[in-house]
Amino acid sequence: MLPIEQLLENNVAWAQARVKEDPDFFNRLANLQTPQFLWIGCSDSRVPANQITDTQPGEIFVHRNIANLVIHTDVNLGAVLDYAVNHLKVKHIIVCGHYGCGGVKAAMTQTDYKPILNKWLRNIKDVYRIYREELDAIEDMEKRADRLVELNVKEQVTNLAKMSTIQKAWKEERRPHLHGWAYGLKNGYINPILDLEPGTGIDPIYEYDDL
Ligand code: CO
Repeated sequence: MLPIEQLLENNVAWAQARVKEDPDFFNRLANLQTPQFLWIGCSDSRVPANQITDTQPGEIFVHRNIANLVIHTDVNLGAVLDYAVNHLKVKHIIVCGHYGCGGVKAAMTQTDYKPILNKWLRNIKDVYRIYREELDAIEDMEKRADRLVELNVKEQVTNLAKMSTIQKAWKEERRPHLHGWAYGLKNGYINPILDLEPGTGIDPIYEYDDL
């Protein structure tokens, strides 16, 4: 483990290297951010958005939480989404889960993680309940957890499509595209799970007709 001082030393070296490579690097970024992508990922330290997609500061607007959940009453997520869609005008939103996700595995147990974590993990338990038949049929527990990671990504992308922020942008500007991915901790590869084009129909009970 690095001592905290090391992080600051690394930072100085990193900043100097950037300027050496590209003298205008910070001037350009300080004035404007125009990312085309919003990333909704897991907080897991092994899944850093920029590194695994080999992108630079300025390219991806990032929101991360435990198990990459899209919960419509989450004000933090809502504010990030509103800003990304209506101000930054992102063209793509990526929900990126990852195989071996600790949050997903925890939700598969009956352990009491105490009120706050229980509330958060409940959302994943709800996904499990929807797909119980398929999941229970997978005997290998690691494979079952990995399938739940994929199904969770699918549900979270669908949760985005249920939100009026997305439906309004779809109707007025035919963006953003929604993407669900699952990242492999063991090999570094991203597995695309599903794509929703702007205007994709969902269960009509969630569709607003007066946007
Ligand atoms: Co995770």
